[in-house]
Amino acid sequence: MPKKVATNSPSPTAKIIAIINGKGGVGKTTTAFNLAAAWAEQKHRTLLVDTDPQGSASWWFERSNKTLGFDIASETDAKLLTRLPKIEGYDLVVVDTPPALRSEALAAVVNTANYLVLPTPPAPMDLAALVETVREAVIPAGVPHRVLLTRVDARSINEALEAQNTLMEQGIPACHAFIRAYKAHERAALDGVPISQWRGKNAKEAQADYRRVADELQRDWRK
Ligand SMILES: Nc1ncnc2c1ncn2[C@@H]1O[C@H](COP(=O)(O)OP(=O)(O)OP(=O)(O)O)[C@@H](O)[C@H]1O
Ligand SMILES: [Mg+2]
Repeated sequence: MPKKVATNSPSPTAKIIAIINGKGGVGKTTTAFNLAAAWAEQKHRTLLVDTDPQGSASWWFERSNKTLGFDIASETDAKLLTRLPKIEGYDLVVVDTPPALRSEALAAVVNTANYLVLPTPPAPMDLAALVETVREAVIPAGVPHRVLLTRVDARSINEALEAQNTLMEQGIPACHAFIRAYKAHERAALDGVPISQWRGKNAKEAQADYRRVADELQRDWRK
């Protein structure tokens, strides 16, 4: 349904939040999809843009009944992606990206984004790869950013706290909230729903994790 917009004031431009990490399988798509859903539930007009040729976010959306509260678009062309800031009719644009640090499309997204979220598991090898992503792609672009620890083993929360410390020592900002590893996340994708709509084992814990992150990021923008 078309949304009503005031015609006497120019439509404010959408905030573009890109989810990036050069490494694969770290939780980018899960984070993009669930944050888009969480912000849409808070009545922000939200668009999810799938820039990954693998199309995982689109696959997830296609499995849904398409009444998720947010819209989805697919675009992998770097030239067209530089025009993301011209999108009208949305408050927030969440961009899911491919695990390819040196791709032109990723460079286009990073350069047009207002904020970057960098999901990573807390294991030392994953963190090392992430620090490379931050140095190569994030710091040169000068875009505000925060690391988000994902797939954290619920039985060893200390690992996440240590990872947050390691990042802090390197001057890399991280979210205080983190995402624990639960099968619920895989099942929600399979069932075509964001975690907030999924019912089953550990749903409450998994939902609370993404809700906390969605709230923390919003507070960070308002500062
Ligand atoms: N917090 C979590 N707990 C358990 N499983 C998770 C969690 N986050 C993601 N997964 C699962 O891990 C796998 C990889 O996650 P996801 O697709 O989000 O990563 P990605 O970084 O987008 O991967 P790619 O680089 O291939 O695009 C998926 O099967 C997903 O369901
Ligand atoms: Mg992905």
